[in-house]
Amino acid sequence: MLAVAILAAGKGTRMKTDLPKVLQQLCGRSLVERVLEAASSVSPDRQLVIVGHKKEAVESALAPIPNLEFVPQIPQLGTGHAIQQLLEPLQGFTGNLVVLTGDTPLLRAETIQNLVNVHQQRHASATVLTAQLPDPTGYGRVFCNQDFVIERIIEHKDCTESQRLNQRVSSGVYCFNWQELAIALPKLTNNNAQKEYYLTEVFDYLQTVIAVDANDYEESFGINDRLQLAHAHQVIQTRTREKWMRAGVTMILPETITIDDTVELAADVIIEPQTHLRGKTKILGGTTIGPNSFITDSTVGSNCQVAYSVVEDSEIGADCKIGPFARIRGASVVGDRCRIGNFVELKKANVGSQTNAAHLSYLGDVTLGTHVNVGAGTITANYDGFQKYQTIVGDRTKIGSNSVLVAPIRIGDNVNIGAGSVVTRDVGSDSLVIARATQVVKPDYYDPQGRKKNDPQ
Ligand code: UD1
Ligand code: CA
Repeated sequence: MLAVAILAAGKGTRMKTDLPKVLQQLCGRSLVERVLEAASSVSPDRQLVIVGHKKEAVESALAPIPNLEFVPQIPQLGTGHAIQQLLEPLQGFTGNLVVLTGDTPLLRAETIQNLVNVHQQRHASATVLTAQLPDPTGYGRVFCNQDFVIERIIEHKDCTESQRLNQRVSSGVYCFNWQELAIALPKLTNNNAQKEYYLTEVFDYLQTVIAVDANDYEESFGINDRLQLAHAHQVIQTRTREKWMRAGVTMILPETITIDDTVELAADVIIEPQTHLRGKTKILGGTTIGPNSFITDSTVGSNCQVAYSVVEDSEIGADCKIGPFARIRGASVVGDRCRIGNFVELKKANVGSQTNAAHLSYLGDVTLGTHVNVGAGTITANYDGFQKYQTIVGDRTKIGSNSVLVAPIRIGDNVNIGAGSVVTRDVGSDSLVIARATQVVKPDYYDPQGRKKNDPQ
């Protein structure tokens, strides 16, 4: 049997945050969600999350993840005290316990798997994931012999100056033989610089404790403050970009591009500089996104171009030209071969295929048919100050420049609306509509000096 426990009860004092530290977001997911995802790779029989500080917030953030057991730790008296809380829920459990800290989001699944494998092969009491860090400040230092048998782990604050020179650190990731750990846990003391019950003291009471160095030392980074959070961001972004470039995505100046790891990209997507892809975004093949675009929770079809634009919660078909400077939001759906932008905003818009709105428009709560041409400056007046109303436009209709469609309104197929019209009533198919003041021309009104003729003054 294999159980995993994740330490997520601490306050995160160094983060200086209202949010529990483990809920800090990192490229679309929280720190602890990332740790849980890596943990699930070892297919544990039980997953226990130790919660304390703002435990309701942590529990509700993790509620969508199935089969988690939350174990309260109140008050929080240190990492050893946290693991002592498992004595009751894991009573009678036989097998190994993997312990992870909720603040090590860079850990890879295969690294945890390797730790468990080595632990089992060596029949150890405990196996510690260690790393040799260029700057080990703040971490517990691991002292071991040539066979990687650990003699002691000493917390940074309890080290002498010369002990601090040791660059081998504990990553806070361990695999324990649970039955041996259960006997050792009650022996912990808080006789140290922080007056806490350290989990690392438990190694003094266990038989064989071995160290396994992580291949990539960055995986063991613990995120305690905003600088480390920013660094983790960079590490994850680099990993994500490299993954997509290997999968056939072109990136121009990749270091200026950010991509959540919930995003999916097809081969032959091109991403131009300063582009940011967030949430459940999906981009299909042959499409170029950017420069300077922000796409979140949206799908963009194949062979599109999206430049200098913002797309949120929406779907764009194939072969579309979006932007420069379009904003598409509110669950809009754009068909194939459409052109949206320059300076066009779509909100809750359903746009048929081969329809163009190419300049300076606000189109909200609207359904446009296919082959519609929306003239420059067209506005849907969808709001009367109290409620929003729908505009429906049929196929092949042409809306003249600077028209206002006052909703609720329904315009048929093949309608031609004269430029500058304010259309307030429904229009049947095949009509010409002109809804504007008639032009008034008064010839010979001024004299050559620009004075009004026949002026009584
Ligand atoms: C800990 C380790 C250190 C290791 C480092 C790796 C101890 C004593 N120290 O130090 O050896 O090098 O991680 O990152 O274990 N937590 C609780 N309950 C508590 C205290 C903490 O659940 O009472 C949780 C925190 O939410 C956090 C994790 O335990 O997720 C680690 O705590 P933190 O204070 O960050 O420990 P470090 O000082 O970084
Ligand atoms: Ca830490």
